[in-house]
Amino acid sequence: MIKMKTLMLTANDTDIAAQIIKNGGLVAMPTETVYGLSADALNGKAVEKIFKAKGRPMDNPLIVHIASIDDIYKLVSDFPQKAQILAEKFWPGALTIILPKSDIIPDEVSAGLSTVAIRFPSNPIAHKLIKKSSPLAAPSANLSGSPSPTNAKHVYDDMNGRIDAIIDGGECEVGVESTVITLATNPPRLLRPGGITLEQLQNAIGEVIVDDAVLNPLKKNTVASSPGMKYKHYSPKADIILIKSSEKDFIDYVNTHNADGVAALCYDEDISKLTVPSISIGNSDDYETQAHRLFTALRNADKKEYKTVYAHCPDTKGIGLAVYNRIIRAAGFEVITLE
Ligand code: TXA
Ligand code: MG
Repeated sequence: MIKMKTLMLTANDTDIAAQIIKNGGLVAMPTETVYGLSADALNGKAVEKIFKAKGRPMDNPLIVHIASIDDIYKLVSDFPQKAQILAEKFWPGALTIILPKSDIIPDEVSAGLSTVAIRFPSNPIAHKLIKKSSPLAAPSANLSGSPSPTNAKHVYDDMNGRIDAIIDGGECEVGVESTVITLATNPPRLLRPGGITLEQLQNAIGEVIVDDAVLNPLKKNTVASSPGMKYKHYSPKADIILIKSSEKDFIDYVNTHNADGVAALCYDEDISKLTVPSISIGNSDDYETQAHRLFTALRNADKKEYKTVYAHCPDTKGIGLAVYNRIIRAAGFEVITLE
């Protein structure tokens, strides 16, 4: 891959960023969930560059980001009532809705599927950039397989020399990616838990099925409802092992496995009781903080070159389900259950 100069931009430079997008370039932008690597969603050649820059498999489709609900009509061929309710209630925000696509969506965006994923982010910088350019196709702005970036430094570490520009918009509020729900099937199906919780979705539209692959490894010979489910994700170089147990059993287990290169991904309450180095993601009952800190914690595990990281299993209530889903994927579904 040819190294290019990556411009570092600020929130005041959205004109420059919009020009880069119009010229078919790639700009990393902050969103309230994680940073996105954006290109003009209606320019297939520009979108193709996203896959090259990330090393992303071409069969993994991208989310199209819009800046008003009205933008959706030209992108989808059907906008059913339940989707309208969700859009009214949760947009702008951390929700991605999958719908049948219209003809103007390039194949590069939908990866050959008949559907398209749409999201209306709330971050004001993302909003400005989309308004000034076009609907933007954007996956998370990390190298394929590594944890999603939640600040501009994370993006720089993965993408410097591979993309045209990075807009520094500080830390992402939510810290895990958007919730992905498909309304192309009935009943609606949750494909990825995220910033908007399952409980919120069910309160708004009633029944929502949780796709089996949210909590379990994809079964052999089944087609993934969401191609992203097939790929190993969020994985730092360390071997992550999820421990399902009480707090006491977690502490005892990790302390008896104390060795060189062993660390714990844990909660604030655990730190003083552990004899191994710890990376805390917050209090055990503070799910928002856990989501906010998780990806930085996984990146820090790499910086410290830990070999084995025991992770204390999070609660799956609220946004905790998203934290659990990311950790169990980072662990490649390697779980130890202590009775
Ligand atoms: O919060 C987010 O959603 C961030 C920010 C930048 O908006 N974006 C993000 O994109 O996480 P990405 O590409 O890293 O994850 C999108 C997921 C992938 O697992 C992909 O397979 C799935 O959504 N997806 C996209 N289009 C789809 C479609 N038409 N049908 C099923 N799954 C789809
Ligand atoms: Mg991603």
